[in-house]
Amino acid sequence: MRILSVVGARPQFVKLAPIATALQGKAEHLIAHTGQHYDELMSDVFFQDLGIPAPDFNLAVGSGPHGRQTGTMLAGLEEVLEQARPDWVLVYGDTNSTLAAAVAAVKMHIPVAHLEAGLRSFNRRMPEEHNRVLTDHAADLLLAPTEVAMAHLATEGLADRSVLVGDVMTDVLYLTRDAVNAKQEPLPAGLVTGGYYVSTIHRPDNTDAAGRLAAIVSQLSELDKPVLLLAHPRLRTLAGEHGISLDHGSLRSIAPLAYPQLINAVQNSAGVVTDSGGLQKEAFLLRVPCTTVRPETEWVETVELGWNTLISADLSQLGAAVSRPAPAATDANPYGSGEAAHQVVAALLNGSASS
Ligand code: UD1
Repeated sequence: MRILSVVGARPQFVKLAPIATALQGKAEHLIAHTGQHYDELMSDVFFQDLGIPAPDFNLAVGSGPHGRQTGTMLAGLEEVLEQARPDWVLVYGDTNSTLAAAVAAVKMHIPVAHLEAGLRSFNRRMPEEHNRVLTDHAADLLLAPTEVAMAHLATEGLADRSVLVGDVMTDVLYLTRDAVNAKQEPLPAGLVTGGYYVSTIHRPDNTDAAGRLAAIVSQLSELDKPVLLLAHPRLRTLAGEHGISLDHGSLRSIAPLAYPQLINAVQNSAGVVTDSGGLQKEAFLLRVPCTTVRPETEWVETVELGWNTLISADLSQLGAAVSRPAPAATDANPYGSGEAAHQVVAALLNGSASS
């Protein structure tokens, strides 16, 4: 069986890593990189650090408005699929690369499997929400990370195409955490365990309007501990355009970290402040309190278990939320035990959700 993974943006490389490993010796696996993310720190370091084979195809699409970016990928992927003729196209998460690959494949009658199916924010302002809903309804096999995701798929009439596999980011997180701890990876200079927060902010709703971004940055700069701000290129560019400093008060901005260094920085921090989906879950898995600067989350289990607090409209609550005491310890594992990639491979080899 030949499986073609299509990836393009940073969180997809993390999800690809355990899949590439689990597919070894089980099926022929080809990788297409759309080039949505192209900076070394947003792309290449993930392939190196996580031992992912080099892509077989690279479309080098780059940045652009949603329609043009997605359309350019769609055209390029049609040619890739023509050449590769896979038995499955495996698409990951909710980016423009995910949607482009799903549309390209479904139009060519090539079966599509969607990894991380069924997540919903119910916020139709988010490009990710359009991407994941449209992809789920185009796909033939829906690989859901959680029971909640399975329930969303059932509500939308997609139960017979859905299978619960667990969360592959959990697989890679546990492996990376153990490797980092065995190596005793150092922290970024000047930081001590429990003495700082880690922050990432990159969503358009938080970065694109100058007033909103300035208010978030101002709150972060007033937190009671140093804030290691891992600046996504979008944040860096927009802060520059709006004349907002990312290095004042408690704030200390640096370039995005490679994955092992990110895990190390988070597990040693006093808390995380983010609008990323993946980082909320990583904080929970490492049992670090998270404050999410969004009105809602797809990873509702992190909130229900007390490890994640949402702050959006009233940013003046951010400081109190971030410095809240850690919740009671829990051994709940709503994201699985770190073996989701094997479940994914089994479902692909079975050929359908119901078999
Ligand atoms: C994308 C995903 C988002 C995911 C995020 C992870 C969509 C709609 N969004 O958002 O779900 O959480 O990736 O990081 O697909 N840029 C660079 N270098 C790069 C990549 C981007 O400079 O390697 C800059 C460009 O100015 C670009 C901007 O970042 O315009 C945004 O990049 P883009 O891929 O459009 O979306 P993200 O915000 O990264």
